[in-house]
Amino acid sequence: MSAARKITTIGRGTIGGTLARLWTSAGHEVVQLGRAGGDAGDADIVLLAVPHAAVPAALAGVTGLEGKVIIDATNRLDDVDPPDGFPSVAAFVKATTGGPTAKAFNLNFGALFDQASAASIPPHNLWVGDEGARAAVEQLSRDIGMKAIHGGPLERAAAQEAFAPMFIAAVKDAGEGLLFYRFFAPEAR
Ligand SMILES: NC(=O)c1ccc[n+]([C@@H]2O[C@H](COP(=O)([O-])OP(=O)(O)OC[C@H]3O[C@@H](n4cnc5c(N)ncnc54)[C@H](OP(=O)(O)O)[C@@H]3O)[C@@H](O)[C@H]2O)c1
Repeated sequence: MSAARKITTIGRGTIGGTLARLWTSAGHEVVQLGRAGGDAGDADIVLLAVPHAAVPAALAGVTGLEGKVIIDATNRLDDVDPPDGFPSVAAFVKATTGGPTAKAFNLNFGALFDQASAASIPPHNLWVGDEGARAAVEQLSRDIGMKAIHGGPLERAAAQEAFAPMFIAAVKDAGEGLLFYRFFAPEAR
């Protein structure tokens, strides 16, 4: 296992709770916060996984976030707008906390995370965001059996958030239940 990290999740539901359990199994020290808030001052890495409309209140309810590496997994379902004045939820998060910020784990189904490590090839986890968050996203993806792939800077978070409804629609259209994704090389190569 790679070095143990101190992780605080803001949100402990399908995404926050499942990742917290898997990261704990991987040897990390994980604290889960719900809507009562709390302190993240001790954390190396913070995961944000609350409903998009709750993001401002959720961040306001947690102390010690300044400058932290933060991984934002929220989605704007039903194509709702990001917080006023910001192009994406992730940009709002970055403006609020001021630390290295990633948009990650949002183009996945929480109900599948438990099965990632059993896949024959690690499912991809497409993310965008700051280079300062790369090590955290790569490690925490690898530790649950996924492979992080970087789609560019945080300015692309609006595109990544906008892609989520399309991703969900496409998976439904495939008609095979919930799906992982993986970019793969041509077999002939
Ligand atoms: N479910 C998925 O497969 C999936 C996939 C990709 C992305 N996402 C995104 O991830 C986020 C979380 O989804 P989820 O399915 O994990 O939701 P969920 O199971 O409903 O859990 C939501 C969590 O947010 C917390 N919360 C709600 N209002 C809050 C507030 N005002 N302040 C602080 N915390 C608050 C809840 O706290 P309590 O525990 O105190 O109730 C709960 O722990 C959403 O943005 C969703 O779009 C979900």
